[in-house]
Formats: sequence, structure tokens, C-alpha cells
Amino acid sequence: MRIAVAGTGYVGLSVALLLSQRNEVRALDIVPEKVDMLRRGESPIRDAEIERFLRERDQMGLSFEATCDPIGAYAEAEYVVIATPTNYDTDTNSFDTSAVEAAMDAVRSVNPDAWIVVKSTVPVGYTERIRAERGDRRIVFSPEFLREGHALHDNLHPSRIVVGAPRGDTEAIVAAMRFAALLAECADPAEASRENPDGTVGVPELVLGCTEAEAVKLFANTYLALRVSYFNELDTYCATKGLSTADVIRGVSLDPRIGDFYDNPSFGYGGYCLPKDTRQLLANYRDVPQNLVQAIVDSNATRKDFVADEVLKRVNGLVYSGVARPLVGVYRLTMKSGSDNFRASSVQGVMKRVKAKGVPVLVYEPTFRGDEFFGSEVTADLASFKERCDLIVANRWSDELADVAGKVYTRDLFRRD
Ligand SMILES: NC(=O)c1ccc[n+]([C@@H]2O[C@H](COP(=O)([O-])OP(=O)(O)OC[C@H]3O[C@@H](n4cnc5c(N)ncnc54)[C@H](O)[C@@H]3O)[C@@H](O)[C@H]2O)c1
Repeated sequence: MRIAVAGTGYVGLSVALLLSQRNEVRALDIVPEKVDMLRRGESPIRDAEIERFLRERDQMGLSFEATCDPIGAYAEAEYVVIATPTNYDTDTNSFDTSAVEAAMDAVRSVNPDAWIVVKSTVPVGYTERIRAERGDRRIVFSPEFLREGHALHDNLHPSRIVVGAPRGDTEAIVAAMRFAALLAECADPAEASRENPDGTVGVPELVLGCTEAEAVKLFANTYLALRVSYFNELDTYCATKGLSTADVIRGVSLDPRIGDFYDNPSFGYGGYCLPKDTRQLLANYRDVPQNLVQAIVDSNATRKDFVADEVLKRVNGLVYSGVARPLVGVYRLTMKSGSDNFRASSVQGVMKRVKAKGVPVLVYEPTFRGDEFFGSEVTADLASFKERCDLIVANRWSDELADVAGKVYTRDLFRRD
């Protein structure tokens, strides 16, 4: 089957490569440099499986082509997956879906019949509204649950496949079911026999209403943000009262209903999705009573205030001990170990707060192109970074900091993401 994908970021590229195992896939991006890299078999993002698929695409028999040409990409496609950005717009208090609609326009200018599958994260209610506004019934929605850095792995081993089609629209429901099957048949073959906790076998495929599918995505990410915020507030309490956070978390998480995972304190939840998705869900709650969703959004700002205060306390301590103007080092701008992406990483919020107090900051970020980040010097020279900084702030620990451990402030207690 011919399938096109609009956008070759984390979502688009992983879905395109996944589907290219059994389908003819054309992946379109509006950035020619990305397309050129893909044509050379190079990945624009750091992701072990994406890099492997691109490197071995001939041996693996993948049918994958990257292009900037909408006619070549979309004209013959039966399905077009849209995976363009939906950044949060603080003026409208909602996601900016203009790139999704620009892609829809480009598809429809050459192909009135293709099924459009929106994989971008959208506000709850978006798909039904855009179908009505455009008078276009061949649009469905499929939320994406991948983690950055494991994008293709998570599509090869999906926790679940969810596709949304409007209730009562049989043609759209059938198209949604076929799309779910396309994703499932490209998953790792071992997944077909896996046993799920609910006793079912194989990857669960859910075909829901569009609006329910949109809600699944935002409620899932907001739950993850809640969990991060919960353990961060636990840590704020313990650090303030002089308790061992690690001991308390171990004791709490051994309850199987809670679980010893995703409980490692950090500077706050961050990355491209959690901050914007929680705010979008909060915006969707307009006219609906709630306390928790607002608290999750607020908690992240409070956590960054707390972490910044802890850093400033240590800076003041250095001043009292005779360091005239302590230099604070930010070790990596990224959100997670092994990532090359620092969109909305929580350390940036801490950095902004510390700099607002006039404290000089030096950033160590080897993947950053350029030598200044929001007015602060950036270096890729780890040895001189360690030597120059009086205090090093790290959202995530790395063993390459072991020789300067005494200078490091981190809340990465369990040394895992
Ligand atoms: N990154 C994640 O972990 C993740 C997970 C789940 C869902 N999502 C959602 O998926 C969407 C995409 O996220 P991403 O991280 O892959 O974004 P990204 O920024 O990595 O990639 C988006 C790509 O779309 C391209 N693009 C922009 N406008 C275009 C257009 N009109 N036509 C074709 N290409 C266009 C950009 O050049 C870019 O390469 C967002 O809505 C995001 O919220 C992201």
C-alpha cells in the first residue's frame, strides 16, 4: 500500500520507517536539509532504531523515500499520516494546529480521496471540529505514545494502538481499523504473542471515537506529569525537612499498586510533550470543575522555583566562603540521559530563574550548535567546564561527573530516567 507521512520528526520518521517494512512510504518534510540527510541514510535525530533502519534499509528491504515534493508524496497515497508540530500558543490558550491544517491543505490539493490520519497531538474535540469545518469526512486521529530517543523502538513494541473515528461513521471506522491493523502488522513479530496484564494476547488495538482518542492522549500525558510532580513534591518535602527522599520513595514504591518505576525526582517534568499537553488539557477543562489538572501545571513551576532556590543557597554559601562571583555550570540542556533534544527541558526553567538573580551560568552541551544559549556561554569542552564551574547543576547524573561529584547539585537519586 502507498502511504505518505507529513513531517519527519520523532513521530513522523518513526511511523514512516515502521510502515516502510510492509508498505511503500513517502515521507515529506518542508525542511530540505532534513530530507537530504534522510536520502543519505542519516538520521536527523538521535534514536538507535531509526539510525539502524536508515543504515540497513536496503538489506532490510524497506520501501522508504524522503521528499519535499507534495505531488510525489501525496498524490498516490491511500493513507497520509500527519505528524507536524502542535506547539502551545499562550495567546489563544490552545495548541497551534496551523501546521496540521497546512499539511491537510497540501494533501487535498493533490489527493481528495486519501484517508488523513492525524498523529499530531491535538486539543480534545479537534478532529470532529476540523472535519465539520472543512467538510472533509476522510480524517481520523491516532494518538502517538512514543518516548523521544526510543521513538521507533516504541512503535515496534507498542503498549497499545489507538485510532479514533467518529461514532456512527462506518466508512471512517473501517478506515481506522485498517490503519490500526497496518501499525500492528509492522510491530515486532514477537508482540503478536505477548500476554497483556488483562489476559489478552498481542498488541491491544482500540478503535474509539475521535474525541475519546484525543482525550486518551492528553489524559495519559497528564497522568505521567502528575506522577513526576508527585515524587518531585515528595522530594521537595524531604529535602526541606531533612528526610532521606530515597528511603521514603523506596518505602512508598514497594507497594505494588504504586510500583518502583517512574519515581525518580528531577527538576520538573519537561520535554516537548508533557508541559504543553498538560496545559492543553487544562484549557479543555474550561467550564468543567477540576482541581488536580491546575495543580499539576502549577506544581511544575513551584518545583523549578524550589530547585532554583536550592541552587541559589549553594551559590550564597560559596560567596560566604570567599568565592567572589561563583560560576554555575549547567550540565546538559537535555531532559534525559542519552537524548539530543532539549525542547522545554526543565533545567532551562531553573537556569532562567538563577540567571534572573544575576548569577553567571556556563552551559556544557556537546550537541548544541553555537556558543551562546539565551546569553549564556555554551561549551563542548567538558574538562574546562568542570574546572571553571564552582557549582554544577545536573538534572540527570552522568558518571563523567564522578571526579567533580562534590560540586554537583542533582536530584537524580536513583540514576535512571
Ligand atoms: N516528540 C514526542 O515525543 C511526541 C510524542 C507523541 C506525540 N507527539 C506529537 O506529535 C507531533 C509531532 O511531534 P514531533 O516531536 O515529531 O515534532 P518534530 O518537531 O520533531 O517534527 C515535526 C516535523 O514536521 C515538519 N513540518 C512542519 N510543518 C510541516 C508541513 N506543513 N508539512 C510537512 N512537514 C512539516 C517539521 O519540519 C519537522 O521536521 C506533535 O503534535 C507532538 O505533540 C510528539
